[in-house]
Amino acid sequence: MAGKLMHALQYDRYGGGAAGLKHVEVPVPAPKKDEVLLKIEAISVNPFDWKIQKGVSPLLPRRFPHIPGTDVAGEVLEVGARVKNFKTGDKVVAFLTHASGGALAEFAVAKESLTVIRPPEVSAAEAAGLPVAALTAHEALTKTAGIKLDGSVKQANILITAASGGVGHYAVQLAKLGNTHVTATCGARNIEFVKRLGADEVLDYKTPEGEALKSPSGRRYDAVIHCATGIPWSSFEPNLSENGKVIDLTPGVSAIITWALKKLTFSKKQLVPLIATPKGENLDFVIKLVKEGKLKTVIDSKHPLSKAEDAWAKSIESHATGKIIVEP
Ligand SMILES: NC(=O)c1ccc[n+]([C@@H]2O[C@H](COP(=O)([O-])OP(=O)(O)OC[C@H]3O[C@@H](n4cnc5c(N)ncnc54)[C@H](OP(=O)(O)O)[C@@H]3O)[C@@H](O)[C@H]2O)c1
Repeated sequence: MAGKLMHALQYDRYGGGAAGLKHVEVPVPAPKKDEVLLKIEAISVNPFDWKIQKGVSPLLPRRFPHIPGTDVAGEVLEVGARVKNFKTGDKVVAFLTHASGGALAEFAVAKESLTVIRPPEVSAAEAAGLPVAALTAHEALTKTAGIKLDGSVKQANILITAASGGVGHYAVQLAKLGNTHVTATCGARNIEFVKRLGADEVLDYKTPEGEALKSPSGRRYDAVIHCATGIPWSSFEPNLSENGKVIDLTPGVSAIITWALKKLTFSKKQLVPLIATPKGENLDFVIKLVKEGKLKTVIDSKHPLSKAEDAWAKSIESHATGKIIVEP
């Protein structure tokens, strides 16, 4: 593919939202020794993609211009000299990392260690939804909250906020595999949807009960997978069990202050800021769950690469139900 051009979307400075994405023709990237070159079949957009564009971190992106996006499913076209586990023609799903990005394009390179085989039972779009969102839900539930997904430990009470979104809809399904009792919050239009995912009780976040986060059956939460934003610690605190923790996926300044205060005062109730680290082995685990019919990717909408800015704008609106997908 050396010297060939591909269609991609990129931005060359911070800011600009969907209008800041430019359609360009750029060289197809060449895989390094530990990378595979993919012909992309599906991409999913995550809020962190446009937050990087907004300038949330001075270290990201690594350089301008930047092709954003991290979650891709595709077909292996070339393998680097040291790649052992993949060959030309393999169908795979990969996480491209926030520093390198590269997903909103016809082709991308992925590290072998962050690439796994996509079984034929799982569509490219279903697979592309997984890397950031499902692995964040998985890490929060298993590593941080200590839930065993085979349901082998005592049943815990879990609250999942924004259960209708990309992370939340995977979190509800995974939490139920762990035999937990799930209370979930979402908007009124998604209550039945979130119940179908397996939630035991659902609160409309725009009602007083939803704002108070009170479990209708009177449960105290052992862990909160907090996928929404803007909910103060004072709303969570009275609803937590003695050692309950709030796992905050979008920690702002006040969350960091609360985290530090709870640590310093040896509080049993904790706030845990979490920035997930997607791993190949966990991607393999969740895609196998999809293959076995134990986990599903719900697709909010599909957009062609020629209109990927619509997918970007849709994600910025923050009203997706499940995952937003782009297809080259
Ligand atoms: N720390 C990490 O490693 C990590 C990883 C992935 C994501 N995140 C962060 O986690 C957050 C969620 O990500 P996502 O991909 O799930 O987002 P998303 O798909 O855009 O979430 C959209 C959904 O959230 C619902 N929602 C919004 N505010 C709500 C509230 N106050 N209560 C209940 N539901 C609410 C919306 O429902 P309505 O349309 O009805 O309002 C919509 O269905 C984002 O801030 C993202 O940046 C962090």
